[in-house]
Amino acid sequence: MNVRQDFLLNPEYTHLNHGSFGACPKSIFEDYQKWQLALERDPVDFFVNKGNEQLERSKEAMAKFMGCEADNLVFTMNPSYAINIVAKSLVMKPGDEILSTNHEYGAMDRIWKYYCEKAGARYIQQEIPIPLKSKEEFIASFWKGYSKHTKAIFISQITSMTALIFPVKEICQRAKELGLLTIVDGAHVPGHIPLNLSELDADIYTGACHKWMLTPKGCSFLYAHPSIQNNFDPLLISWGYDADVPGKSKFLDYHQLQGTRDYSAFLTIPAALEFFRSRNWERVKRNARQMILDNYQRLCDIFGDGPICPVTDEFLGQMCSVPLPIADPMELKVILFDEYKIEIPVFKMHDQVFIRLSTQGYVTQTDVDYLVTALTEIRDSGRLTMLS
Ligand SMILES: Cc1ncc(COP(=O)(O)O)c(C=O)c1O
Repeated sequence: MNVRQDFLLNPEYTHLNHGSFGACPKSIFEDYQKWQLALERDPVDFFVNKGNEQLERSKEAMAKFMGCEADNLVFTMNPSYAINIVAKSLVMKPGDEILSTNHEYGAMDRIWKYYCEKAGARYIQQEIPIPLKSKEEFIASFWKGYSKHTKAIFISQITSMTALIFPVKEICQRAKELGLLTIVDGAHVPGHIPLNLSELDADIYTGACHKWMLTPKGCSFLYAHPSIQNNFDPLLISWGYDADVPGKSKFLDYHQLQGTRDYSAFLTIPAALEFFRSRNWERVKRNARQMILDNYQRLCDIFGDGPICPVTDEFLGQMCSVPLPIADPMELKVILFDEYKIEIPVFKMHDQVFIRLSTQGYVTQTDVDYLVTALTEIRDSGRLTMLS
């Protein structure tokens, strides 16, 4: 089944960048608008009753989907918000270290640098060399960054720029043995690869639902293990602080009650799960993952660099990043967008240029073939500034 017609995407473009901001199918978007309309029809009843009831339903559905209790979860607008809550409240002394990798998302790096700097602590971006050869090699590289000052680890389960699945379960297990706080950035995970928070057993986990779960923008979450929930101050002080009628926990009061706001996107989780069910999404995802495995080497062969990991589903989901021997990412990005109408990210990470392909239900093999043709033509045209 081609689900292309389910999406709202502009048909004039070939959309190969699901990873950045996702894409929302019509049925889920209509559900979102339904909640917005319900809010405007009866604002008071919505905020006092109906909205809260649906918020609970949505949280229950999300919690069941990823194997945790709904009360250990709060929706946030995006993962940046969630990690700001955590980093701002984390008690760090001068000299403490937060161990991370050099593959993390730029906004997250900035959050950790900011709060570490304020506390005199250090944010360690441990180098994970690419090409990555094995899980064991990854684990060994990561723990080279550990020292007696390490207080917590912060790591992506799927990286943004390099599009790699990291073995976070093994990392969290070891971190627990070392007595470290475990914080996982799963922005790309829900709806992409299997997620079971009870099994993973991280202390803190954030994920975005507007990427691979296909909800409208502004739907993400913060999960915190009950043993540490009370450690986090609200990022925004409102009715939930010193609440007149305290709810089930401070964690829920502090991070859910944030003044008047449109949280309709949070309410669409049941519609997203129904979309998955009705479209047999597990099969769609399998095909999209296979498309990555089938095409990664082929894409790498165009410029002769990569792949950056073994081409197996241990490291690859519905994205892959191809290193390019070119100087300026914008040169290629602009040609692909303006002349070929292909939407795909081309960017620099630590002086290395990459192009990242995302496959989603609406992406066909013909689309990937078109990308291969475009890249080959652009390479042969001699218009790119190559690295010497
Ligand atoms: C690995 C990773 N973490 C976090 C984020 C969340 O970013 P934001 O809070 O800007 O939505 C993203 C977004 O692409 C990401 O790829």
